[in-house]
Amino acid sequence: MSKELIQLSNFLADDQLTKSELLALIELAINIKKNPEDYNQVLAGKSVAMIFEKPSLRTHVSFDMGINKLGGHALYLGQQNGKLGERERVSDYAKNLSCFADAIVARVFSHESIKGLAEHASVPVVNALCDLYHPCQALADFVTLSENYPDLSQVKLAYVGDGNNVSNSLMIMAATLGVDFTLVCPQGCEPEQGLIEKTQKLAQASGSKFILTNDIDAIGQQDVIYTDTWVSMGDEDPSKKAAVLAKFAPYQVNHALMAKAQATTVLHCQPAHLEEEITTELFDSELSKVFQQAENRMWAQNAVLVALFSN
Ligand code: NVA
Repeated sequence: MSKELIQLSNFLADDQLTKSELLALIELAINIKKNPEDYNQVLAGKSVAMIFEKPSLRTHVSFDMGINKLGGHALYLGQQNGKLGERERVSDYAKNLSCFADAIVARVFSHESIKGLAEHASVPVVNALCDLYHPCQALADFVTLSENYPDLSQVKLAYVGDGNNVSNSLMIMAATLGVDFTLVCPQGCEPEQGLIEKTQKLAQASGSKFILTNDIDAIGQQDVIYTDTWVSMGDEDPSKKAAVLAKFAPYQVNHALMAKAQATTVLHCQPAHLEEEITTELFDSELSKVFQQAENRMWAQNAVLVALFSN
């Protein structure tokens, strides 16, 4: 599929995209990155409302600056209106924003809110992170891997840490794209069973391997190791911090693990909790592509926005 043909109506979850659509989005993101001036009027005269129920640095800034680079206008809506569905119904939020905005970007606590926004808005909705998925991040990650490895289908990717929104999106996209994926997490921190089954089916269809294990010794012969916080936003509980640190300690991503895997790249969606899920030394090392990943958030999201507005 050529970059001109990719069209989306929403970007809600990773499983809505086929392999060819994902590859087209990755190609489009790289093309926008190389030739931003070719796309600087795509959102001319358009406004995007950005709802953030949770904190953000990269997502907020990359959407705002990215929309600006496409010639559009971004409006940040923080928590001044309270949680979605509390002060007014999610459906009313969606209908009101549709009166003014040409698209809605939303970072929310619950995937149900994303679904509710998409159901009731008359404009496209983009998931900027929820409890289940972080599709913009995973798309940026595969853009980053495409830039670093000539053949994505040969890349062996491992995620070590908490089974969370970031690993859910990664495993679904990896399985769709045909990338071998190993998820190593402590017992009790696995993804939901439904998502595991979905990933297994996608991996079977694409002919890739999907391994889920609690055994850190499963790491070996991986090209890329990815990690994320051990405690996601909204799950913080100071009384459990010591227990979390003890449970996850064997799953820290550090130089020793990278050497065992003979891995050439470490990825992290950030914010990083240095000396917890990743060592400072590794995060700051030559193996780390975390800032390339961060920059690619903007180009990946701009590819999504271009695909939404090419209808
Ligand atoms: N899993 C993390 C990702 C942050 C970008 C969280 O949800 O807090």
